[in-house]
Amino acid sequence: MSEIIKPKVWASFDPPPAVLEYLNENLDFSYNATGQLATRRMIEEQLPGLDGFFLTLRDFVDAELIEAASDLKIIANLAVGYDNIDLAAANRRGIWVTNTPDVLTAASADLAWALLLAVARRIPEGDRMVRSGQYSGWRHDLLLGTELSGKTLGIWGVGRIGQAIGQRATGFNLRVIYSNRSRKESFERECRARWVEFDELFRRSDFLVLAMPLNEETHNRIGKTELELMKPSAILINIARGGLIREDELIEVLRSKRIAGAGLDVYVDTTGIHKKLGDLEHVVLTPHIGSATRETRERMAFLAARNLIDVLRGLEPENAVNRDEIRSLRATIPAPLRALAV
Ligand code: DGY
Repeated sequence: MSEIIKPKVWASFDPPPAVLEYLNENLDFSYNATGQLATRRMIEEQLPGLDGFFLTLRDFVDAELIEAASDLKIIANLAVGYDNIDLAAANRRGIWVTNTPDVLTAASADLAWALLLAVARRIPEGDRMVRSGQYSGWRHDLLLGTELSGKTLGIWGVGRIGQAIGQRATGFNLRVIYSNRSRKESFERECRARWVEFDELFRRSDFLVLAMPLNEETHNRIGKTELELMKPSAILINIARGGLIREDELIEVLRSKRIAGAGLDVYVDTTGIHKKLGDLEHVVLTPHIGSATRETRERMAFLAARNLIDVLRGLEPENAVNRDEIRSLRATIPAPLRALAV
């Protein structure tokens, strides 16, 4: 009897054990087991023989890598954002690109709130004070922060995560305003949110959360001009991507105390932070942990694995980010050859 040949998939990282089992059952699966980030060289060596590539947002897949991957049918990203993948190159080659939406919405929205509260109530400063032995009891003027209740929360980008951030505002008695490419009427009804122009969002927000995907349109969209529209008492939170803001200009605005503070989970440099950010007391910094809960990361890995397996069985994946492009490309393939295109 002939042996069934399973599609070949490689992951740039070690998936959680339950997901590993699922992948091993269904695929000829292997992964980077070094415990270190996959290098470009490693990816370059693996890609040409693969049917599917399972990667994280730390792996950059450019046109050159994609062109050399002659058998590749799917790139499955362990993230909702996919700015690490050259989508146009994948589209040209008819390769599915998938992401992991929904399952990380709550965790990411929670982190936005954790940062907002940490900056507004100066929690890390208090923690540093207590640990360093400088705390000697209650004082009427100790670490005075900013009240949330009755203020205005602004959200730039109301996809799933932005909306979940808005939903959490009700409990804190905040007014919600937002700016987005299109209006979201159900969100407006549910959260009593008001759509405002981009500039007005900066002018009116007491707390402004960035929840936009990074793409050509949003890259470097926020700079000194926008930041200087903000109230001096305002706090900026970024849980989306560092590339939304011109970071040097943000640092300048923060250093001159032109705004009251910031909470950042993401940076322009995806491998570390701009040193000058670390010198600022009124800024809370976290290491890109928006989706970092055990439950969420496992759900993300399962979802990505399911997308891989579906595509390699000839089905459409649940979470394609280039569905229209792949469908229209397939429509141009003569019917008798279509089945071969996976
Ligand atoms: C994503 O999935 O894009 C998030 O940034 C991960 O935390």
